Amino acid sequence: MEPVTKKREYRDDYTDKTLYIPGPTEVREDVIEAMTESPFGHRMDRMTDLYTTIVEDTKEFLGTDNDVVILTGSGTEFWEATTLNLVDENVLVPTCGAFSERYANVAERLGKNVDRLEYEWGEAVKPEDVREALESGDTHYDMVAGVLNESSTGVRNPIEEIGDVISEFPDTYFAVDAVSSLGGDYIDIDAHGIDAIFASSQKAFAMPPGLAICVVSDDAYDREAEKGDSSWYGGFRRTIDYYDRKGQTHSTPAIPIMLAYRKQMKHMLAEGHAARDERHREMMEYVHDWADEHFAMFPEEGYESQTVACIENTQDIDVAATIEEVSEEYDMAFSNGYGDLAEETFRIGHMGEHTVESIRELTDAIEDVAEL
Ligand SMILES: Cc1ncc(COP(=O)(O)O)c(C=O)c1O
Repeated sequence: MEPVTKKREYRDDYTDKTLYIPGPTEVREDVIEAMTESPFGHRMDRMTDLYTTIVEDTKEFLGTDNDVVILTGSGTEFWEATTLNLVDENVLVPTCGAFSERYANVAERLGKNVDRLEYEWGEAVKPEDVREALESGDTHYDMVAGVLNESSTGVRNPIEEIGDVISEFPDTYFAVDAVSSLGGDYIDIDAHGIDAIFASSQKAFAMPPGLAICVVSDDAYDREAEKGDSSWYGGFRRTIDYYDRKGQTHSTPAIPIMLAYRKQMKHMLAEGHAARDERHREMMEYVHDWADEHFAMFPEEGYESQTVACIENTQDIDVAATIEEVSEEYDMAFSNGYGDLAEETFRIGHMGEHTVESIRELTDAIEDVAEL
């Protein structure tokens, strides 16, 4: 078969665009510069200094006593790893958009029996429905796989309340994809029975892409040990035991990105989890007010994401053309709607290092181009 993709030579003359997409997002200059240190070996003491620093700083930032695993890869790695480490047979996946659907799809491909709790796109998962699914029927679910921030619809699911429900079912583990909001939306990880929660470095952590971060409970660690088989690369035991013995990763990591991580996590610690949450809340409120004035928010009311706004295109603007023109004239990038919602909605990533002021620059540009 003739391949569809032809080589398009990468050039040296691209214009940088300010990123307002739902990740990757803007990265501070000193964080980018941190990646230029000369290479060193992944079994050197220097590596132990680096890896233990980023792991312990992450625990401190997130305020968790659980273990933290940072692996080369993207958040997608932990869709697979959580499924392989925690599920023997049955998994319940509340689906409310493209990413929760993909979590279900991953589990199916790994040979698990997946039951979906389906919601319309734009709706949030309801804790009482999760309770009903866990209580009714003969199926014992090894795991509930949730998505905190459904980036395709801009919905923030009530993961804390869902976790409280699942905590009442001690043999059911709770894994949470927090890929597009951890670090920009406060969550008390240890208080809601969350066994594994994971993110990608390029989203609200505002780092370059290439690292996946997962917080793992003792119960999840024990569950994998009891279960026997698990993911090799993302196995909780392999990664955590290796950390406990050597303070390093089991295989060669993307050291330059970890150097960037170290730098950025210091900035995050200086700001603090609560203050970072507050700044993201302010951005969300600003975008919400702007959307109310010109369009409408797409998500069910009360469940709007703190990091990704999904705005309903009530004015029937040409979304693709507006994105193109904003990019050309203002060197800013924002996103169309996901999949079938491409023209019906558009999305603004207000995460990481953005502020209300920087978001206002984008909304001013959209107003100008779309003649709002
Ligand atoms: C909610 C959610 N989950 C998972 C992913 C996949 O993340 P990655 O591409 O970093 O593997 C994304 C990416 O946008 C996402 O938004």
